[in-house]
Amino acid sequence: MQANDFESIRIQAESEAVTISTPQGLEEFRLKYLGRKGLLARASAIIPTLSQEERAEFGRKLNILKKALTVLVEEKAKTVAAKDSGSSINRIDLGLPGIAQELGRLHPITQVIDEICALFTRMGFIVVEGPEIETEYNNFTGLNIPLEHPSRDTFDTFYLKPKTDNLKPATKYLLRSHTSPVQVRAMKSRKPPLSIVVPGRVYRPDAVDASHSFMFHQVEGFLVDKGIKFSDLKGILEVFAKGIFGENIKMRFRPHFFPFTEPSAEVDISCIICQGKGCSVCGRKGWLEVLGCGMIHPNVFKHVGINAKTYTGFAFGMGVERIAMLKYGINDIRLFFENDLRFLKQF
Ligand code: PHE
Repeated sequence: MQANDFESIRIQAESEAVTISTPQGLEEFRLKYLGRKGLLARASAIIPTLSQEERAEFGRKLNILKKALTVLVEEKAKTVAAKDSGSSINRIDLGLPGIAQELGRLHPITQVIDEICALFTRMGFIVVEGPEIETEYNNFTGLNIPLEHPSRDTFDTFYLKPKTDNLKPATKYLLRSHTSPVQVRAMKSRKPPLSIVVPGRVYRPDAVDASHSFMFHQVEGFLVDKGIKFSDLKGILEVFAKGIFGENIKMRFRPHFFPFTEPSAEVDISCIICQGKGCSVCGRKGWLEVLGCGMIHPNVFKHVGINAKTYTGFAFGMGVERIAMLKYGINDIRLFFENDLRFLKQF
C-alpha cells in the first residue's frame, strides 16, 4: 500500500458518505472501512512485511485516516438520525395544519375616535389629550360652573378622597365628567389662534343600562381666533356630520344651555334609520341628538387669561359611543365594554 493510497481511500469514503441516507447504509459504510474485516484492517495486515522505518510512517498515516473516518461516521450518524422517519421525534410533519396567528384589530370606539379626529385634523385641528383625574377647578370653576350653580347637578361626578394637608386648602380631585376641562388646560398653556380636538374617557355615576355607562368617551373640540362667529361653528360641524354619517344627512341647531358657552345649542342629525320620517329609533321625531356646542363664554376666557374683546371662539362636545351606535345601528352601549368577540369581530 502506497502513501497516496491513504489519500485516495479518504476521498473515496467522503464521496460515498454524501449518498448515505439511512442508518443501515451508514452501518454498511462503517463495516466497509472500519469493521474488523474492513479496508483499514486489511491494510494493516501488511505491516509485518514492512521495514522498521516504513512501519512507523505507515502506522501514523493509517491512524490519521482511521480518525478521519471515525469522525465522518459520527457526523453522518447525526444527520441520518434526524432524517430517519421511523426513529426521530424531531421530525417535521409538513402535512400538519399550522398554528394560526389571529389578526388583531382596533376596538370600534377607537376606530370611531380615530375617524372623528382625522376629519378635524384635515381641517387644521390638532389632537390634545388631558388627564382623567382632574381638579375640581378645571372640571367646573374654570368653565364658569360655580360650585353652588344648579347646572352642576347635571354633571354628577365621582369625587376622589382629598389628601389632608394642614397648611393650605387641599386641591379637590375628581374623575372628569366631561372633556371640557382640557379647554381650560390648553387655553392656559397656549396662545390663540387655537384649533384643538380632545378625545378621551369621562366618568359619571350613572346606573348602567342600554344607553348609560359610568364610563364613556367624548371628543371635545374648540377653536379660538379673532372674528370667529357662530356660522364658523356651523360650517365645521356640517363637514363633520357629513363626513361621519354621509352627504345626505341634515342638521339642526336647537337652543340649549351650557354654562361655558353662550349662546349654546344642541345639534341633531336627521334620523339615519328613517331619513327624518319618524321611527322607533328617533322616537317618531325624525331627529337624533349628537352633540352640544356654542360660543365660548367670556367668563371662561377670563379664567384662562384670554382677552374676550380681541378673541372669540366656539366649542363642542360629543359622546363617541352615541356616534358609534348611530353610525352602526347598535342598540346597547354595554356591547362596547363586554369584550364579546362575536360583537367586536364585526368591526
Ligand atoms: N361638556 C358638555 C357635556 O359633556 C358638552 C359641550 C362641550 C357643550 C363643549 C358645549 C361645548 O355635555
